Amino acid sequence: MCGIVGYIGNKDVKSVVLNGLYNLEYRGYDSAGIAFIDRKEKIHVYKKVGKVSVLEKEVLKNISNVSFKLGIGHTRWATHGKVSEQNAHPHTSASGKIAIVHNGIIENYVELKEFLEEKGYKLVSETDTEVLAHLIEYFYTTEELNLLTSFTKALQQVKGTYAIALISEYEPNKIFVARKGSPLTIGLGKGEMFVGSDIYAFIKYTNLVIYLNDENIGIIDGLAYNIYDLEGNTIDIRPVVTDSDLMFSDLQGYRSYMEKEIFEQPLYLKNALEKSIIIDNDDIIFPYFNFFSQENIKKINRIIITACGSSWNAGLIGKYLIEKLAQIPTSVEYASEFRYSSPIIHQNDMIIAISQSGETADTLEALKIPKSNGAKILSITNIPNSSICRESDGIIYMNANQEIGVAATKTFTNTVLILVLLSLYLANGKKLLSTTKMKKMLNELSDIPNKVQQILDQKESIFVLANKYVTKANFLYLGRGINYPIALEGALKLKEISYIHAEGYAAGEMKHGPLALIDEFMPVIFVAPKDYLYEKSVSNINEVKSRHGKTIGIISESDKYLPTILDDYICIPQTFDEFNPILSVIPLQLFAYYVGTIRGLNVDKPRNLAKSVTVE
Ligand code: F6R
Repeated sequence: MCGIVGYIGNKDVKSVVLNGLYNLEYRGYDSAGIAFIDRKEKIHVYKKVGKVSVLEKEVLKNISNVSFKLGIGHTRWATHGKVSEQNAHPHTSASGKIAIVHNGIIENYVELKEFLEEKGYKLVSETDTEVLAHLIEYFYTTEELNLLTSFTKALQQVKGTYAIALISEYEPNKIFVARKGSPLTIGLGKGEMFVGSDIYAFIKYTNLVIYLNDENIGIIDGLAYNIYDLEGNTIDIRPVVTDSDLMFSDLQGYRSYMEKEIFEQPLYLKNALEKSIIIDNDDIIFPYFNFFSQENIKKINRIIITACGSSWNAGLIGKYLIEKLAQIPTSVEYASEFRYSSPIIHQNDMIIAISQSGETADTLEALKIPKSNGAKILSITNIPNSSICRESDGIIYMNANQEIGVAATKTFTNTVLILVLLSLYLANGKKLLSTTKMKKMLNELSDIPNKVQQILDQKESIFVLANKYVTKANFLYLGRGINYPIALEGALKLKEISYIHAEGYAAGEMKHGPLALIDEFMPVIFVAPKDYLYEKSVSNINEVKSRHGKTIGIISESDKYLPTILDDYICIPQTFDEFNPILSVIPLQLFAYYVGTIRGLNVDKPRNLAKSVTVE
């Protein structure tokens, strides 16, 4: 949700800030803007509706020859105020001498706006951010405070969340930053410094990073940084060296990041497997899972998984896996609901927070409730040092490398793989699996990347299927048991990538209402591999067929019966029931991807969405 970039140093400021914005565009792409301070210490602001490329053209047209001391930039995902140039960031103060970019929500902005209007300020945008620029200038000019104190005083008035970068003609050699609830990092180079909502803004230049904590305010001047709390006290934060494997990757010949990320799933599943298990004769070691000591495992009474969106769907698969393999009662909660519920948490409850970005505001808040009740938090995330990591007692990395496409694909399959491994680890700790059975499962798991590849190799057939159904207005996705979450995930992928209405449903629930929707125009996608519920799924398919619905199946390649009754089908290789979701989701990702591209849509940046949802 909104990307913030900043740079102070001897490189070409325009190029560094624009490059950072391109790298953060996945966080929001409604509009983009930039503010620079030139050598004569004057602020220049440029903003455009649309993508960073539109802004870049404008910047190059107007100031390609101007040299700057420093700059900040912003790519917006609109919260307050429509998508317009006026509402795009940076926002400036009344004199134009302060420019700020903001990610988050200022909840009491109406109250602050009224205060400013009473003092004669005229606000020109509909945003919550603009009030802050005026408020800081109000303290600076009326109370004659320095900029840091004015900034701090303004933030003391703010209710809500923020990541902010600020530049000003009043102190033209510094970038001011602040964070509460929305992420912000500072990159340290040699004689230069960077600001980023995440490290992808500057990882190309440095991997020495300061992760700001909530209610930190910082000043950088290219040579030194100083961090303070909201009371003005100095805070000592040490930089950390971040894994440079996280280097931003390019398209490598693919047409979109979504396509690339779907097709690189075998590679990253293998990566996660290699990093997560070591088999040494009879010893099976899970290096990442040591957080659960044998002692701890025995004590766990219940697991609560909390997450949003695709991560929630993966969590639901986790429930089936953990209950089946490790026999620990598990519930799965939408983080946005859990954070406002009154859960009864016991000390021996284990909370698992799943978040690819590690920054989802709802998930971050949801884990704080059980944490304050003494429960231990394990997070599964793709981004080291993310906010969720820093609230957790233990972390398991997805090891999927950066995912740029807004729709989760490779991080979804890697999360399910991690949940499989975690369930096996817990089952092992409780002595529920023999070494032979465990090895058999791990052996099969090591073949999963190859089986995913076999499905990807059927891309032509899936493309044909997408062409056949691309004009349909509605889809139903049905599954049972461990494949029910895959029906949810398949429907979610289609909705977000192709803007077609799709519902995921538990197949057995059809007769309790949704069956009324079935007619010859309704395509129904069944996730029906040959597993423990296969016969039940066959009955559900027949129910839909007898009402003239179009039936499409994701079925096992050994299945001889379903091809005789389905309108269309895609085969997946046979595997253990527990591993089916990693395979059955692949054709559904490809189907959504092809439907989206045939409809001419930007599959990497679906409308209204953003990769990292840092507002509630
Ligand atoms: C869907 C999708 C979203 C995310 C959700 C949670 O394709 O990507 O539904 O899964 O916003 O994001 P994380 O996992 O970053 O917490």
